[in-house]
Amino acid sequence: MKLLKEKIESEGIVLNENILKVDSFINHQMDPFLMKEIGKEFAKLFKGEHITKVLTIESSGIAPAIMTGLELEVPVIFARKRKSLTLTSDLYTAEVYSFTKQESSEITVSNKYMDAGDNVLIIDDFLANGQAAIGLAQLVRQAGGTVSGIGILIEKSFQPGAGEIRKQGYRLESLARIKSLADKQVQFADAKETIHQ
Ligand code: G4P
Repeated sequence: MKLLKEKIESEGIVLNENILKVDSFINHQMDPFLMKEIGKEFAKLFKGEHITKVLTIESSGIAPAIMTGLELEVPVIFARKRKSLTLTSDLYTAEVYSFTKQESSEITVSNKYMDAGDNVLIIDDFLANGQAAIGLAQLVRQAGGTVSGIGILIEKSFQPGAGEIRKQGYRLESLARIKSLADKQVQFADAKETIHQ
């Protein structure tokens, strides 16, 4: 997606060869115009999939997910990473290990909001090792629902997540694919380019 790539080029900061900082438009301050365009793009890509719910994980997935839900005219659910005071029982749960943070967390969604009739589109901001997306897919499967696709804003194609998700048979659409962050430079992959990790 041209607009997202331009934003990464103009405002993204390469912290090191693994991490891209996008605090000015995704992870802290957010760009609502960009989020709206992202919502339209995902809606276009997944239009034929009869999506009934959009599922993401707090916190940075929420903005693009809500815009996608708005365009597809379906509800948006965010999985929680912390226990909620009011959501205490009847939860779908999955364990997600973050290689970046080197910690595990239990993610949860109430069983009230997803069931076997749902075709779910999973949305998240970054795809690194794929653990968040795989954990979200597990929640959908616990509900008996179908994962109709996974939509990612920024795929770091040099890390294992994209390959792992495709290996598990999910349709993956990433709006920007980065093949390298070496030498403090962002190098994008072509849309169909295969990257070997
Ligand atoms: P994975 O789900 O693909 O396995 O990713 P990983 O555990 O490595 O990611 C942990 C957190 O770090 C996630 O955010 C993810 O979005 C973020 N992250 C991964 N790579 C990058 C990167 O290159 N740049 C930035 N800015 N973030 C990255 P989180 O902890 O869930 O945070 P948030 O959603 O609450 O913002």
